[in-house]
Amino acid sequence: MRKKLIIGNWKMNFNMHEASLYLHKLMNMLPSHRDVEVVLAPTILTLQSLSLQINRRIAKLAAQNCYWRDSGAYTGETPVAHLRGIADYVLIGHSERRYIFIESEKDIRLKVQAAIRNRIRPVLCIGETIQERTLGETKDVLADQLTSGLANVTAEELGEVVVAYEPVWAIGTGDNAKAIDVKKATQMIRRHISHLYGKKAAESVRILYGGSITPASAADYLAIDELDGLLVGAASLDAYQFKEIISKAHKG
Ligand code: PGA
Repeated sequence: MRKKLIIGNWKMNFNMHEASLYLHKLMNMLPSHRDVEVVLAPTILTLQSLSLQINRRIAKLAAQNCYWRDSGAYTGETPVAHLRGIADYVLIGHSERRYIFIESEKDIRLKVQAAIRNRIRPVLCIGETIQERTLGETKDVLADQLTSGLANVTAEELGEVVVAYEPVWAIGTGDNAKAIDVKKATQMIRRHISHLYGKKAAESVRILYGGSITPASAADYLAIDELDGLLVGAASLDAYQFKEIISKAHKG
């Protein structure tokens, strides 16, 4: 059975002091849920100090981005190799990276491959824009982003991959997707991965939803059988709200 996964994406929030206080608060509130994996994605600058503070039985860390080369003259970039021992996951292809920083499908594919090579689990973010949705292109967009993002991944490596369905129009807008649409998208994603790798390999991939999740909406998504967890932005910035979302993923 795939374990539920709840990731908090802090984006460009919390300096070192604030991040440390938040972590302290959250660690005190969360029991170690055996059936829920909790992951925080802080800024790159705070990642290392949080890795010394965090109790990994309670939560793990993710980087919000990385570069795919292991070293070299690439000013300002963070090699995924340097995340080893610090982060367990890395977000790749978040829509803010795709559309604000113009990351290409090739960048994303190379990052996914580099993460796997360095034993950091990639969280491949995919999702349609509002225009694509209006034109009825959601299925094709998801298929294209999956085919491209996973192009260098073998069936054996697929179990390391997490896919986050994050419709661009739902991120940071308060306009969260309906649970029924998330269910359909999750099924499309699993079907497409199954088409690429076979049913058994596709079953090993965890699929998350992200986009304006709140404690009030979380339970509806977590009730979707095919869905394995959530990628939470704004609501993860409040430790109490994030804890409430996590507790909804916890069975019994
Ligand atoms: P949001 O962000 O929950 O604030 O919409 C989600 C994300 O960007 O991963």
